[in-house]
Amino acid sequence: MLVDTILVLDFGGQYCHLIARGIREANVYSEIVSNEISPAEIACLKKRVNVAGLVLSGGPQSVFEPNAPRFDSEILSLHLPILGLCYGHQLLAYSAGGAVRPAEKREFGLAHVTIDKPIGVLDGLSSPQRVWMSHSDTVYSLPDDYEVLAHTENCPVAAFRHKEQHIYGLQWHPEVVTTENGQKTLGNFLFQVCQCKPNWRMEDFLEKAIRETKELISDNRAIVALSGGIDSSTVTALAARAIGRNLTAVFVDHGFMRETEPDFVKKTFQAFDIDLIVVDARARFLGKLEGVIDPEQKRKIIGKEFIRVFEEEAKKVDAEYLLQGTIYPDRIESGFGKFSDKIKTHHNVGGLPTKIEFEAVVEPLRDLYKDEVRKVAEELGLPHEIVRRQPFPGPGLAVRIVGEVTERKLGIVKKADRIVTEEIERSGLKEELWQYFAVLVDKKTTGVKGDSRAYGYLTAIRIVESREAMTASFAKIPYGILERISSRITNEIPEVTRVVYDITHKPPATIEWE
Ligand code: XMP
Repeated sequence: MLVDTILVLDFGGQYCHLIARGIREANVYSEIVSNEISPAEIACLKKRVNVAGLVLSGGPQSVFEPNAPRFDSEILSLHLPILGLCYGHQLLAYSAGGAVRPAEKREFGLAHVTIDKPIGVLDGLSSPQRVWMSHSDTVYSLPDDYEVLAHTENCPVAAFRHKEQHIYGLQWHPEVVTTENGQKTLGNFLFQVCQCKPNWRMEDFLEKAIRETKELISDNRAIVALSGGIDSSTVTALAARAIGRNLTAVFVDHGFMRETEPDFVKKTFQAFDIDLIVVDARARFLGKLEGVIDPEQKRKIIGKEFIRVFEEEAKKVDAEYLLQGTIYPDRIESGFGKFSDKIKTHHNVGGLPTKIEFEAVVEPLRDLYKDEVRKVAEELGLPHEIVRRQPFPGPGLAVRIVGEVTERKLGIVKKADRIVTEEIERSGLKEELWQYFAVLVDKKTTGVKGDSRAYGYLTAIRIVESREAMTASFAKIPYGILERISSRITNEIPEVTRVVYDITHKPPATIEWE
C-alpha cells in the first residue's frame, strides 16, 4: 500500500519547510516540490506515493508582480484537495477571479481572527483565534462559488473555501508555533479533507532512503564525505547499509576542525566495518584561503577544494558517486528555491563548483531536519556521542575567524573553543543547548595583563538554543559560567584581551558569524 503523501508547493517562503514538518509530525508523509509541478510529474510521483493533497506555501512576492510565481493551472483538474497559505491563499483567490489588493493596513505578527464558520479546516476552532500573520496583499472578495470562513478587522477574507471542491485558503500561518491550534488546523486538512491515515513513521524514511540509495548507485562504487558531524555520520551509516563494501568514507582534515576532532572521527569510524580514508589537506586549504576575507568567498573556496579532494580520492578507488549529508535547512538557506532568498552558501550546497567529476551527488537526508536526522541516527545504532553532537559547519573554524584565516588565529580559536566546550559540559547544560562555541573577531582591543598594557584579540562567545536552526535564541547562561569562560580564555590564551557574549537571536543574526 502506498503511503499517503501531501505535496507542499514551494513559493519561496522562509517557513515553507515548517509546513512539511508539521505534516510529518502528524504522521503523514510530506515532500516539498517546485511550485510549477505539472500533472504529469504528480502522476510520476504517484507510482511511489499516494498523493492525497496539495499545500501552496507562503512566499515573499506579490501576486501582481510580473514574474510572481504561479502554479500550473492544470493541477486543478486533478481534483486533489488544496490548502493555500498566505501567498498561496492570495494566489488561489486571485486565480479564481477574486479581488486581491495591497492591504490598506498590513498585518505582521500576532493577530486575532474571527471564525465565521468553524467547518472544514477550521472545524472545532472557537472564535476569536490567535494566529500569526505576515502579509501586505489582502483578499477582499471572492467569486460566488466560494465562501468566507474567517475575517479580521483589516482582512475581510482571512479564510475561505470552495463550496463544492476541497479548496481552502488561510491568510495566516498554521505552521508557525505562535498560531494557537495551528497543528489542529493542519490535522483537519490532513484527516478530514484529504482523508489521510496517520501511518507514516521515521522508520519508513530509513527503509525508503536505503532502498533508493541502493537503486541509484546500483553496483557502482561511491565515496561518502565524512566530517564526523551528525549529518555526515548518519549518511555514512545509511550508505553502508545500502551499498556495503562498495562504499569508502573519506574524511578530509582541512585544518579547520576543533582540537580533538580528527582523532575522534578516526577512532569512532575505525570501529565500524567501513573503509575509511583520512586525507591530511591542512596546508592545501590554508594556502587557498590566504588573503581571503569575504565570508561567501571563503565558503565557496572551501566547497570547491573539498570537491577537488573528493574527486582525487574517488579516482583512487574507482568511485563514481559522491554521498553527502546535506539536510533541508542547508538547502533552504543556500537559496535552492527559485523564489527564496539566499542567506549564506552552505558549503555542501551552494558552495559546490558547477563542474563536478561525479556521475551524481547523492543526498539521502536532503529533506530532513536536524532532529529528524538524530532519530535516523539512533535507528542506525550510531553512538550517543554522535547522535547528541552539536552541529559544526562544513567550513569549520574558517567561518569562526572573522577576516583572514591564519595558522596563529586557528590556534587561538581552537583553544577558546575547547574552553567553552569544557565549561559548558561541566555545567551540565550541554543537552539543552543547540550550539556553544567561540568566534575570533578580526579586531584588537586594549587590555591590561599583569602590570602591563596588552593589545590583543577580541573573542566572542556564541551559545544558542534552537530546534532546527532556522531560528535560534541566544541562551541565558548563568553569569557564573560566562565569567569562568571569560577568565579562562583571557588567562590561558595570551593573545586574547577581551571576551564578549553574543546576545543576538536568529533572525536577525545567523548562528555562525560568517
Ligand atoms: P547559520 O549560521 O546559517 O547556521 O544560522 C545554521 C546551522 O547550520 C550550520 N552551518 C553549516 N552546516 N555547512 C554545514 O553543514 C555549512 O556550510 C554551514 N554553515 C552553517 C551552523 O553551524 C548551524 O547549526
